[in-house]
Amino acid sequence: MNKIQIKTKTKNYYVFIGKDVFESFEDFIPESVSKILFLIDRNVNEKCSVLLKKIKLLNKSKYNLVIHSSEKKKNLITTQHILKYLIENNFDRRSLIVSIGGGLLGDIAGFSASIYMRGIKHIQIPTTILSAVDSSIGGKTGVNFYGIKNIIGTFYQPESVFINPAFFYSLPKIEVISGLGELIKYAIINPKLYDFYKNETTKIFFTKEVSDEVILKSIKIKADIVKEDEKEEKGIRKILNLGHTFAHGIESASNFKLKHGEAVFIGIILALIVSRKFNLIEEERILNFINDFRFITVNKSFANLDISKVVDFMRSDKKNLNGKINLVIPSKEKILIDFPVEEKVIYNVFEELSKYLKKYAIQ
Ligand SMILES: NC(=O)c1ccc[n+]([C@@H]2O[C@H](COP(=O)([O-])OP(=O)(O)OC[C@H]3O[C@@H](n4cnc5c(N)ncnc54)[C@H](O)[C@@H]3O)[C@@H](O)[C@H]2O)c1
Repeated sequence: MNKIQIKTKTKNYYVFIGKDVFESFEDFIPESVSKILFLIDRNVNEKCSVLLKKIKLLNKSKYNLVIHSSEKKKNLITTQHILKYLIENNFDRRSLIVSIGGGLLGDIAGFSASIYMRGIKHIQIPTTILSAVDSSIGGKTGVNFYGIKNIIGTFYQPESVFINPAFFYSLPKIEVISGLGELIKYAIINPKLYDFYKNETTKIFFTKEVSDEVILKSIKIKADIVKEDEKEEKGIRKILNLGHTFAHGIESASNFKLKHGEAVFIGIILALIVSRKFNLIEEERILNFINDFRFITVNKSFANLDISKVVDFMRSDKKNLNGKINLVIPSKEKILIDFPVEEKVIYNVFEELSKYLKKYAIQ
């Protein structure tokens, strides 16, 4: 079992990684905990029953709630459902929520834990590639509201995170693709790792075998950033939003037919095209990126997307200031944050994107 410490101003905690993480799971439950609610994603409950049996506490637990998580249900109604369950079962301030699922469930669980009695403990057991390398780390929680992604939420760090890569074997192909979309963001953030990620993601795509090393390297990048800027106050953490302003607009405008990681993949290409427009990178970088990760395909519904709807959603992004759309984009030397662009630039890069994708026959 490997472990990484996440240090933040509000909490220091460990992420444990390995196929044996559940053997010592019980030892990490703080003694002060009065009751545990296990929140389990419905698909994980159905498809991963053998793995779940390894969590001894779960088998003994009286309080298990299976959640049908979908982006449309990542909302205040699902949050209320969880809060009601906690109240009806007399959960007190010393209670703990253990969430077992992807980023969706982790975000809702973290949000619920952060507001119930002004905050109870939360342990994350991420079961998708995306949630393991990204959403379970760093304490961002939240739900969608009024059609806007993650507009309601908190910063609330978990007690610990347990990653068992064996969960990924049961992921549908589309979820593997989605996970890789978020994973390769780290390859752009840390160019030294570009070749490593390029080769490893190709392997993952064809086998679903995600090595502990990929997870460790990704989490280390995120851990370093979160340590410096837990609440996105200094701007450093905004680097992690690379491609995300586009991605959130694309996901919302597609009515969530496109998965988060698929949208992030497209969002990164769009961010690269913006950089090229402002002469911040050579065109070769876009071509290489698309070519290196061309095995990542995108849902066909992307072709029918109404770009004006995407722009409408991008306008309401939390990162915008002074009426311009603020992007995170790569340049030759570093990642630039708060890069303001006019809406016409957004329309323009979408036009260019279709040319690139056609060239590489990415559908
Ligand atoms: N908090 C953050 O910092 C952060 C960062 C990135 C993304 N996110 C959020 O994460 C969410 C996406 O997370 P996700 O990609 O994990 O999606 P998800 O949680 O929706 O899971 C994807 C699908 O896979 C199923 N599933 C989960 N684990 C499985 C398993 N082991 N086997 C089979 N099926 C399984 C789920 O039921 C779901 O249908 C988005 O809502 C996004 O906003 C949050």
